[in-house]
This record gives sequence, structure tokens and C-alpha cells, in this order.
Amino acid sequence: MLMRIHCLDRSPQPGYQSRLRFSHKSRIRAAAVTLLLSLLPMGKALAQHGQGPQYMYLLHCGGCHIENGSGMPPAIPDLRITMPKLASHDEGRAYMVQVPGASQAPVTDAQLTEIMNWMLRTFAEGTFRPYTETEVTQHRANKVLDILALRRQLIAENLEAP
Ligand code: HEC
Repeated sequence: MLMRIHCLDRSPQPGYQSRLRFSHKSRIRAAAVTLLLSLLPMGKALAQHGQGPQYMYLLHCGGCHIENGSGMPPAIPDLRITMPKLASHDEGRAYMVQVPGASQAPVTDAQLTEIMNWMLRTFAEGTFRPYTETEVTQHRANKVLDILALRRQLIAENLEAP
């Protein structure tokens, strides 16, 4: 609008003004179309991951566990090593939901179930039974007093190296 007034003021002859207005409008239209087109792939990616487990993992877990699960050993375990071992028995499955990072994340039980199953598929190669939401709800409600002691016990039993 401002630009149009500006154009009007400087219009030296009839016809010039409408030509300018036309080219100005079409430039805006072209810019809008370009912007829209450039946003399409991003919108598509967001729509794909916006509510998905990978997005939630990155948001709530990835800060510590890193995008590929490698973590920062020894402080943050490498999930690609520990998850397959822990996932192979019931105690380990329960423990993985009970760790504070998982159980206390600001997500619903349904969302945590989705995240855990995505992690199992992504970091624990093998055919592990997916978590059900009921299972996650139960483990989450069952607080462990000393999670590190439980981890030490499970790690000693199931992993050769920490
Ligand atoms: C602030 C850092 C941090 C965040 C955020 C975090 N974790 Fe963890 N996670 C850890 C640490 C440290 C351990 C090792 C056990 C412990 O000290 O609690 C761990 C252990 C685990 C384990 C078991 C693997 C093992 O070797 O002990 C799983 C599974 C896990 N986290 C899942 C998650 C999920 C799911 C989320 C997100 C919803 C998440 N974590 C967020 C730090 C974090």
C-alpha cells in the first residue's frame, strides 16, 4: 500500500502509474508463489515428523541421547549397545521405561509408547516385541527408588561392557 502511494506520487504521466501498479502486484504475486513453493517441502517434512515418534524423540530425548542414539558414554549410554541387551528380557524392558529420562518426560503414555517402539526399531536391531500402552502405563507408575543400582545389576547381568 505504502509503495503504491509512493508510485502514485512519482507517476509522471498517465498510464505509467497503472503499469507500475500492475508490475508491482505481479511481483508480489510471484514472490508469494515462490515463497509458497519453497515452504511446501518443509511443510511436508513437518507434517511427516510433526507428531511422529522421531520428532518426539529428538525433542525430548535427543538432547542427551543424540540423534543416532550414540549418547555420550560413559555419562549417557550408547543405546545402540545397551538397548538390544536390555530389550531381550522383561526386567530390562521395564527398566527402560522407568529411567527418569523416559518416565518423567512431558509426554503421555501413548506418546512414550510410540517413542519407545521407534527407539526399539531404530537402535535395537532385531525383532523385539513392541511395547503396548498398558505395559508403559504400568512400568511408568511403578517407581524405582534406586534406578542406578538397578541399572548396575541389569548391566552386570546382561552386558559384557558398561
Ligand atoms: C538429561 C539427559 C537425558 C534425557 C533428556 C533422556 N535421557 Fe535416557 N538416559 C540418560 C542417562 C544418563 C541414562 C543412564 C541411566 C540413568 O542414569 O538414568 C539414560 C538411560 C536411558 C535408557 C536405558 C539405557 C541404558 O543403557 O541405561 C533408555 C531406554 C532411555 N534412557 C530412554 C530415554 C527416553 C525415551 C528419553 C526421552 C523421552 C530419554 N531417555 C531422555 C539421560 C537422558
